[in-house]
Amino acid sequence: MPFFQAPLSGYSDKPMRILARQFSSPLVFTGVMLDKTALHPAAIKKNIFNPDDNEHPVGAQILGNDPKTMAKSAAVFEKIGYDLIDLNFACPVPRVLRRRRGGFLLTKPYIVMEIYKAVRDAVSCPVLMKLRTGFDSSDAAKEDFRQICTEAAEQGVDALVIHGRDVVKNYRGKADWGIIAEVKRRFPQTKIFGSGDIFDAESALQRLTTCKVDGVIIARGAIGNPWIFKEVRALFEGKPKPAKPTLTEQGQVILRHFEMIASSHEITKAVRYFRKFSVAYCRRHPQRKKVQTALMAAVSKEEVLKAIKKWYGVG
Ligand SMILES: Cc1cc2nc3c(=O)[nH]c(=O)nc-3n(C[C@H](O)[C@H](O)[C@H](O)COP(=O)(O)O)c2cc1C
Repeated sequence: MPFFQAPLSGYSDKPMRILARQFSSPLVFTGVMLDKTALHPAAIKKNIFNPDDNEHPVGAQILGNDPKTMAKSAAVFEKIGYDLIDLNFACPVPRVLRRRRGGFLLTKPYIVMEIYKAVRDAVSCPVLMKLRTGFDSSDAAKEDFRQICTEAAEQGVDALVIHGRDVVKNYRGKADWGIIAEVKRRFPQTKIFGSGDIFDAESALQRLTTCKVDGVIIARGAIGNPWIFKEVRALFEGKPKPAKPTLTEQGQVILRHFEMIASSHEITKAVRYFRKFSVAYCRRHPQRKKVQTALMAAVSKEEVLKAIKKWYGVG
């Protein structure tokens, strides 16, 4: 199936990944993790880092700039059960760029390829690279991007996942799928997955057909919306789009999501952490503002459950 749930720092934690899998995303990814995390034996034993049985296949996305550390880290993530390794050369966050990681490395094709080769040699699972279309819109950046794609294709990378914006653009403007389609045309043998502005099943299908990519990844469009995966799957299989979830069905999913978070966090933290997901879930509700206010005001597990019950008729 040519789509999957994107790496989403702060969101694509275990509960979101489990839900995405249950809603038929063929593959899911962690949010980005610093390579060094895997090298602390005590840290890596934590439940949040170890994939559950019902997440597979699941990819670990790692960030760093030293080939040896990245390779060691990838080997640890593979050992603890991840099925794929995704290398982050895309993150636009200023403190990441200042530390010469993530999207910064798009200006250093040589280091990108050293990291890729070191990781590939250290693991036996597939290795993907997450890229943006360059560091900025300069000719030099375009050339660096071209060089990375060319060398990665020559080295037989398992897939390039390309977000159609440059690093400096951050999330502004529209993703440029023309560049993604062009990379696919130039490297027909390499698996190319596109990313950017897939907010509904129809756009996923449209990008797959017109850009001829091997797949699309669903990022912001999947936050508070696991239904999107079933919708894309149905359209891809030539079936009608499933009916929109009823309020009760939405409530059941919200409850399940909250329960998963509540079972893995201290409860006050769980309530606070769940708020960003609630905001996203509320978008579908005809009385969105009222529901959002109620869910934001809840400070205990009982209050969250009560609000979900009241507004969605479940609980
Ligand atoms: C809140 C948030 C967190 C993200 N975290 C990551 C991440 O950890 N790793 C990564 O490669 N991309 C990350 N991305 C980028 C997405 O995977 C995706 O490429 C980008 O959002 C474009 O897709 P969209 O327009 O469909 O959201 C993140 C995006 C958002 C909005």
